[in-house]
Amino acid sequence: MDKPYLLGDEGSTAHSLSELKSEAERCTRCDLYKNATQTVFGEGSRDAETVLVGEQPGDKEDLAGRPFVGPAGGVLDKSLAEAGIERDRCYVTNTVKHFKFEPRGKRRLHSKPNAGEIRICSWWLRSELELIKPKIVVALGATAANCLIGSSVRITRDRRRIFHSDGLPPVLVTIHPSYILRLRDRDQADIETREFIRDLTEIRKFLSIH
Ligand code: URA
Repeated sequence: MDKPYLLGDEGSTAHSLSELKSEAERCTRCDLYKNATQTVFGEGSRDAETVLVGEQPGDKEDLAGRPFVGPAGGVLDKSLAEAGIERDRCYVTNTVKHFKFEPRGKRRLHSKPNAGEIRICSWWLRSELELIKPKIVVALGATAANCLIGSSVRITRDRRRIFHSDGLPPVLVTIHPSYILRLRDRDQADIETREFIRDLTEIRKFLSIH
């Protein structure tokens, strides 16, 4: 397995999440801050046992300044609740902290962060993990999984697997909730939602024995 992006570099010296968040609000490490409304930092308790990591904020998150408050957040919230997990007891964040988009008329279309942007921004994720020291990290989709585990991870093959790397908490792999939103077929979306809930249930199983 190749090296996760976020290993190797020293994290921040911030002593608290609020200090780290203030530093991130001024982030100019890559160019994404130029067009985004604001940094969307992670939110949740420093004592969280579970950290959930998405890709990057979407349109709604960029405007609200909070992660997973748009449609994908709705899927995540419902699925967590079905899996018996309280979002409020988790720390929710993203691999990349600024919204990357293509303007299309009045709309802003999501654009995938590139490898350089992910590598640069993973410094913040690493710093969040160093402060929180969660028992488990959940990679929601390929961007988070590649950043946390390495580029050889495959979501369909590796979902529900827990990866262990030196210097990182165990990482559970699952899909990104926006995948479910993109499915046209209702039956398929229901199947995938059930599978997603099954994946998230692994968090509780893991925490019950660790
Ligand atoms: N998708 C993400 O990956 N993160 C968010 O915060 C919202 C949508």
